[in-house]
Amino acid sequence: MNIYGLGGKVAVITGGASGIGRACAHTLARSGADISIWDLDQGALDLVLKELEDYDYRLHSAVVDVSDSAAVDSAMQDVVDTLGHVDITVANAGIGGAAASSGDYSDDDWHRVIGINLDGVFYTQRAAIRAMRQSGRGGSIVNMASVLGDVGFASASAYTAAKHGVVGLTQAAAWEHAVDGIRINAVGPGFIRTPLLAKNLDEAALAFLATQHALQRLGEPHEVAELVAWLASDAASFATGTFYPIDGGYLAR
Ligand code: NAI
Repeated sequence: MNIYGLGGKVAVITGGASGIGRACAHTLARSGADISIWDLDQGALDLVLKELEDYDYRLHSAVVDVSDSAAVDSAMQDVVDTLGHVDITVANAGIGGAAASSGDYSDDDWHRVIGINLDGVFYTQRAAIRAMRQSGRGGSIVNMASVLGDVGFASASAYTAAKHGVVGLTQAAAWEHAVDGIRINAVGPGFIRTPLLAKNLDEAALAFLATQHALQRLGEPHEVAELVAWLASDAASFATGTFYPIDGGYLAR
């Protein structure tokens, strides 16, 4: 059902081949947006493109490592050249990173997480701002933070630092680019059942994490995508510079 009214808008979603990004692609397409999904390999993108064909809007994909600023700039230009403009960008690509305490975290592991989860969001947001300013149409940028953009989590210092950085980046950029008609917000999911979690945690750890949410379960990707679609839409016209948890009550204690 098209409840967000995104017809005529073009949406870029990074990390669009899996988990929350894939769910965002579905929800935004169902709401009428043309979709560009970016991810690391074409095979994974092709599977999601095939699913999206049902919605009958224009589709685009790009193989992009979001930690490479030149690749991000070039992919954003390709979206503009192919689909005409960019109205919505969901800077979602991210990794969990190594699990180790701060005293033992290696330089390589630190830089990898910061490079994708913080630098990658900055590069994506910057390219989106430039495209939106150039079109003169304004736009909405949604940066994927986490509940760990607000509180800490043992053994995930780089991830926690990156997500706090995403929230700060969002707040500063919202003030800078309101004048351009660009709204910029951050979303803070609780623990969501996606390949990212499955890769890093066993079933016992997932069951424990479920108990840390008031709703006593993990979230589903489509539940995050609903908030993203609202923020992307004109219904959220007074929303900017804000961190929106969507967390089953994780932060409510
Ligand atoms: P996922 O692993 O299912 O999907 C992430 C996608 O990003 C993958 O398709 C992956 O290939 C892509 N990706 C990774 N590095 C990339 C890079 N350098 N350039 C381009 N694409 C890249 O993970 P999930 O869970 O859907 O995560 C999406 C976002 O949501 C991440 O930013 C994550 O930190 C955030 N998040 C996830 C939560 C969870 O519990 N699953 C909770 C809170 C936030």
